[in-house]
Amino acid sequence: MDLSPLEIHELRHVYGDGVVALDALSLRIGRGVFGLLGPNGAGKTTLMEILALRRRPTAGRVMLGAVDLLRSPDVIRRRLGYLPQVFAWFPNMTVRQSLVVMARLFGLRDREARRRGDEALERARLTRLGRRRFRALSGGEKRRFGIAQAILNNPGLLIVDEPTTGLDAEERLAFHTLLFELGQERIVLLSTHIVRDIEATCARLAVLHHGRLIFHDRVEALVRLAEGRTWEFPTDGETVDRLAETGRLVSVREETRGFIARVVEEEKPSPAARSVEPGLEDAYIRLVGREGLGD
Ligand SMILES: Nc1ncnc2c1ncn2[C@@H]1O[C@H](COP(=O)(O)OP(=O)(O)OP(=O)(O)O)[C@@H](O)[C@H]1O
Ligand SMILES: [Mg+2]
Repeated sequence: MDLSPLEIHELRHVYGDGVVALDALSLRIGRGVFGLLGPNGAGKTTLMEILALRRRPTAGRVMLGAVDLLRSPDVIRRRLGYLPQVFAWFPNMTVRQSLVVMARLFGLRDREARRRGDEALERARLTRLGRRRFRALSGGEKRRFGIAQAILNNPGLLIVDEPTTGLDAEERLAFHTLLFELGQERIVLLSTHIVRDIEATCARLAVLHHGRLIFHDRVEALVRLAEGRTWEFPTDGETVDRLAETGRLVSVREETRGFIARVVEEEKPSPAARSVEPGLEDAYIRLVGREGLGD
């Protein structure tokens, strides 16, 4: 499979009402799962819709290897898989039948369409549910079906927009494994505001905030931003409320003798505070504040 990197140059998107959803965005993305992290309204879906050829940007250029994505959309469309943030399908169609129909729409003959459908079912671990109607799938199964339709044409570029929203812990774990596997042989672009999704699947990530790229590097490099700035200290309920308002509170846990608050602050926040090993969540909060964790 062609493993040319995806290169985004100075991408800008302004919606009709003047909202600047993306501003001067440049990024280079290679094989593997690449994370796109950002609070609500950061511009993740806008970027993904542009890359999935569902929306034309106001300005900028996107290259996949030597091919200009916006000038030659038909070349790219065959190499592209997309799972939108809101994914709906005909409720009464069964899982396997749906995939075979979609494969036929790609222009495949009957036998080849069935083969591709079965292959996608197996990769998405849905073989068992082939005869189930779409409406009778659980939330996690619907997402896996969404992945199956997105990988039907064995795309070199797979774009998945917040695929883990609403999944329970077990489904989320299975989804991480699936994404990681898919990333072995293609570019997978994963958007989320769940830090754990990134930790479990990505080596590199970008953080978007108000349409701008505010970080782009390896995951460890982001974690390092919170080194020496992540603190824990004993506290009471009232102080927790106050800390929450500052936006730098990461978490609170209850221990036998009271609450322990975890915060990211440039300076030691209280004499009793001790410096602790940072994680990705601490670093992300340092960048964008608590709004980054979404709702
Ligand atoms: N169709 C639209 N028309 C006008 N403005 C839009 C449209 N879609 C999105 N926006 C605005 O563009 C900005 C970016 O939205 P976008 O949906 O790309 O963010 P997001 O990062 O995907 O957010 P979320 O995490 O909530 O999915 C927001 O300010 C949003 O209100
Ligand atoms: Mg979105």
